[in-house]
Amino acid sequence: AVSAAAQRPAAEAPGGEPSSAEEARAELARLAREIARHDDLYYNRSAPEIDDAAYDALRRRNARIEARFPGLRRADGPSARIGAPPPPDGGFRKVRHAVPMLSLANAFDEADLREFVGRMRRFLGLAADAPVRFVAEPKIDGLSASLRYEAGALAVGATRGDGLEGEDVTANLRTVAGVPGRLDEGARRPPAVLEVRGEVFMARADFAALNAARAAAGEAAYANPRNAAAGGLRQLDPAETAKRRLRFHAYAWGEASEPLGETLWEARAALAAFGFQLNAPAEICEAAGALAAYHARLEAMRADLPFDIDGVVYKADRLDWQARLGAAGRAPRWAVAHKFPAERATTRIEAISVQVGRTGALTPVATLAPVSVGGATVTRATLHNADEIARKDDVRVGDTVTVRRAGDVIPQIVAVDLARRPPDAAPFAFPETCPVCGSRTVREEGGAVRRCAGGPVCEAQAVERLRHFVSRDAFDVEGLGARQIEAFLRDGLARTPADLFRLHERAAEIAAREGWGETSVRNLLAAIAARRTISLERFLFALGIRLVGRANARLLALHFGTLDRLAEAAAAAGDRESAAWSDLLAIDGVGEKAVAELVGFFSEPRNHAAVAALAREVRVEAAAPSAASASPVAGKTVVFTGRLEGMSRAEAKAAAQAAGARVTGSVSSATDYVVAGADAGSKAKKARALGVTVLSEAEWRDLMGRGMR
Ligand code: IVH
Repeated sequence: AVSAAAQRPAAEAPGGEPSSAEEARAELARLAREIARHDDLYYNRSAPEIDDAAYDALRRRNARIEARFPGLRRADGPSARIGAPPPPDGGFRKVRHAVPMLSLANAFDEADLREFVGRMRRFLGLAADAPVRFVAEPKIDGLSASLRYEAGALAVGATRGDGLEGEDVTANLRTVAGVPGRLDEGARRPPAVLEVRGEVFMARADFAALNAARAAAGEAAYANPRNAAAGGLRQLDPAETAKRRLRFHAYAWGEASEPLGETLWEARAALAAFGFQLNAPAEICEAAGALAAYHARLEAMRADLPFDIDGVVYKADRLDWQARLGAAGRAPRWAVAHKFPAERATTRIEAISVQVGRTGALTPVATLAPVSVGGATVTRATLHNADEIARKDDVRVGDTVTVRRAGDVIPQIVAVDLARRPPDAAPFAFPETCPVCGSRTVREEGGAVRRCAGGPVCEAQAVERLRHFVSRDAFDVEGLGARQIEAFLRDGLARTPADLFRLHERAAEIAAREGWGETSVRNLLAAIAARRTISLERFLFALGIRLVGRANARLLALHFGTLDRLAEAAAAAGDRESAAWSDLLAIDGVGEKAVAELVGFFSEPRNHAAVAALAREVRVEAAAPSAASASPVAGKTVVFTGRLEGMSRAEAKAAAQAAGARVTGSVSSATDYVVAGADAGSKAKKARALGVTVLSEAEWRDLMGRGMR
């Protein structure tokens, strides 16, 4: 959904073009002002009011008018500069978190919730009716921070960043209410090292006061308390942060040199004793009914709370269970966020355009008359695909619609008011050709998505692929935004990822371009050079293979270890009867569709060539299973078969993977261990035939135990 929001419109809404030079001059002046304002919001205040797509539409409109009236091009216009004056200099030192800062999985309804609780029970091997206690807390809509205390004193305070590495904002955090400079030692002795995690947020009353003051000073209002808090925490001057009156509530911890208790409820009491405010009201919930009742109660009191919340969080109370459950991808298995239903508003559709994504998927997008939904101004909504348009009473330009927005997700249209449809509204016709490159568009057999068949010739796809390639979770190249990529592509400076690593050969050409100077070119080339060594996980994610997102890239990287092994396996898996295919399928967490996409990607010679070209430019680090190079099972390939007595299959797999083992489903000569539980059948037999070591469950536990201290 985030990538959808970041997509760039490929075709423009028609919306009134100036017909005379006078009109054009006025419109260019208006656009210059408006775009400069958005640049400032985005670059200097980290408080964008519109999404990338809406911003790009403004710039395209500007470019179109400039092209028609070149004499009216303004020296201070948006096409004459990049970014916003004054650019934020320096920023903050990076800090690596001792324990990763995780996110939360979401549940939107009771079914999701039952599924979450059921999965947890199965993982722990609990009976379906065994009691499980949860702590329920409000989910505050702010941004998370980690406070590291050493010998009782605040040593480092950091933002979450990508979960592994954040920014050092210690000086700013010291100004935040609820962040003690020293831990309280009166009631209980704090651990020597303790990382306290929680939410930084702005209370509604402080937010209203801030916006009133900004209005009085002629400054733009913040869209919501979250943006204001995020902007406040990243101020370069702590005095500016202090003015925002931010607050901190604790809800978790990272590294702790001593346990805080046996349960979360006890740990909360410890955090309170050290001087922290906690998310309240919190409650212990014993039964599923209690979770639902808590959710309903908080939803009812939501408007009256002093801060914004976007749902509630349920967390397993027993800390030993939390430890066993661990995390899957970016979220712990022991907690879930139960979100509130999205907020809605009514508005009118002004235009429908079509965007072309990275994989060629055509997405119709509605331009809306701006409307405020849950604290943010919405100007676009996604229509997904042709089926969806048909289902939604064939949404038409001019229709009055209800839009829904949940969190950062791009808004959706949920209903059309047919009574208010203008009589001349025409049905939307999906283009038969790509609006960007003119290639045929094809609808997959049985699929709802229409795609541009242009592949590498389609400019829009090339732009989106490069944008994805340099994005934060991929190669993370700073200073290469959509606008720069588009310009490089248009002028033949870079078309493929490998080209980016040869940009230094054309430094002079770039420096001569408008909007670039020697410093910005030097910074860009340094940012690119810094990525010549890259983890396999990021490399895979950056390739932009459909369904190979962060989580799958990570699982594949850990499973194969090296790019060569992965590419070899993908090439050998073309035949669905092959061992390579079933091996890929057996990777815990990687679905069949993703495997098919991966294999399809590597079976395409052009992709093969692009990966090879890229691999010549960069060094891909082998994925070393982190926890555990010390473990005797690290790097080993393990197959579980039969019924395990001591733990569920899911927990056994997760523990093995956490210790650095690869868990697969089929036995081959590459298998190191087969763990045979009760009633093990053909797999154990095959292992013996191949001379693979077969372990009993007890022997496996012994082996694992040796790696643990
Ligand atoms: S627990 C591993 N508890 O929601 C534990 N998070 O969507 C992870 N948040 O990144 C977080 N209130 O910024 C937790 N009571 C609460 C929370 C909470 C707000 C935020 C937090 C997290 C995000 C995940």
